[in-house]
Amino acid sequence: GCSSIDAAKMMWTFYEYPELTFEDVIKPFNIPALRQKARFVAIPTTSGTGTEMTGLAVITDNEKGVKYPVVSYELTPDVAIIDGNLCKIMSDRITANTGLDALTHSIEAYVSNIEDNYADVLSKGSMEMIFDNLRTAVAEPENLTVRQNMHDASAMAGFAFTNSWLGIAHSLAHQLGGMYHIPHGVANVIVLPNVIRFNSKATNRFEDLATVLGKQTAEDLAQEVETLRADINVIGSVKDFGVSEEEWTKNLKYIANNSFADPCTGFNPRKPTVDELEQIFQACYEGVKVNL
Ligand SMILES: [Fe+2]
Repeated sequence: GCSSIDAAKMMWTFYEYPELTFEDVIKPFNIPALRQKARFVAIPTTSGTGTEMTGLAVITDNEKGVKYPVVSYELTPDVAIIDGNLCKIMSDRITANTGLDALTHSIEAYVSNIEDNYADVLSKGSMEMIFDNLRTAVAEPENLTVRQNMHDASAMAGFAFTNSWLGIAHSLAHQLGGMYHIPHGVANVIVLPNVIRFNSKATNRFEDLATVLGKQTAEDLAQEVETLRADINVIGSVKDFGVSEEEWTKNLKYIANNSFADPCTGFNPRKPTVDELEQIFQACYEGVKVNL
């Protein structure tokens, strides 16, 4: 899968620079020039992170319960081999979860506060391909046409977001993954509809994406995401993952603060406060609509 590629990116970094510490590499764009000792060929076997195209590696600190995005263009692989044939043994759960990660990349890359023509076209195109293909990829694992479409869409979304980066759906999802071990794609798609609603107060760009799906408004887009999520049997709230209210309340401020500090927050189209992130988290815990 893709976390093994992310782990390899870190092994590569520490192989080239054994003296670097983890604290050095989690500072954004702080990795020195790689390729002094090795080159990197990425061959993904899931269609989700797009890590074969990106300068990003996500690393979990299990002791702190925090996921760190390590960001540097040095980490972009030299070669990516995107062969849908390698995905046909993926289970329906992993197909669904990883596909929803790619969907979140496409939407967040399109609305990020960095304008980039390449990201615009690739994110819009990949979002459309994911809506057109993910349901079938889950239902028909050996359909190679659909597998290749999802694999291409994941790489296209990766290409888009390595140019324009992501937003607070990822900032929130990194914490849900680090603290509660919610799979990354599931965490993204739990928060994405409410993040669309929150961000729609600051940008009209969700309407462009709704148009691709034959719809009109940001709320339409949020609901299309919820429908796709339900169609492929993915949960819609943190509570449904089995996190108790007691545990949730105990950690809420901690994870809200950590998501505020996540590098992805800096690229979000609407600048959130810690308090707003906490309120989005709370709505996503309960599975209700946010109105902020
Ligand atoms: Fe992601």
